Amino acid sequence: MFEAADLRAGGVEPNYVKVLTRLLAAHAIAEKLTAIGYQRALGALENTGLRPTIEKNLAEERKHARLIYRLLEELGVNEPHADRSMLPAMKLPSFAAPRYFAEHDANAIDLVMASMSLDMTGLIMIGVNYRESSYAPHARAAEIILAEEEEHELFASTEFREAVERYGAEAINVALREWLPRAVNFFGPPDSGFTYDCIRYGLKTRDNGDLAELYLSLLERRLRNARLELPALTATYPHVIA
Ligand SMILES: [Fe+2]
Ligand SMILES: [Fe+2]
Repeated sequence: MFEAADLRAGGVEPNYVKVLTRLLAAHAIAEKLTAIGYQRALGALENTGLRPTIEKNLAEERKHARLIYRLLEELGVNEPHADRSMLPAMKLPSFAAPRYFAEHDANAIDLVMASMSLDMTGLIMIGVNYRESSYAPHARAAEIILAEEEEHELFASTEFREAVERYGAEAINVALREWLPRAVNFFGPPDSGFTYDCIRYGLKTRDNGDLAELYLSLLERRLRNARLELPALTATYPHVIA
């Protein structure tokens, strides 16, 4: 396990710091885009019953982003610099879900889908991968974020059940076919050189492909409970509806 001071002292392989910085920049921008999405949804939201929960989620996503940007600051990378480094990556399919949420007005169904595509996936990525990071400050931040993401996930699953009842299976299926590829691609490409480095350095424990599979199996169970079927996806990344 490393602390920020170990990295500053220069006793750690420079490539470790490089890989860690890129991983944190990706984590930070994902939290920030999710916060922007919730902010935007709040502006467009009619159902006042949801407001308090969305406000809570928004405040927590902002806090998650701040936590990770602070880790970057400790490594000498400020927020604008971190965000700029992510510009090319943000155009890739792995960022389609948070970007879509941040850039489009969400109706009530979109909001449920976004939560299922961002909070449920985030819970998996953070819970499985970052919680045991070899970079102790990231592991500690993950622990804090995780507790709140569990609540977001609970909100997503309750809202999902209600949305199926309110809007009907047909409308949910249409939204699902739109959101599912984005959600699965959020895990990133399987077997990438970057993930290989992350795993080698103990910054992640599992490959993106494994996490995507785990997500699909959890989602399939949730859909089955609502008498819905998981839409079939193409086998290779970036996944689209088959
Ligand atoms: Fe978050
Ligand atoms: Fe969340």
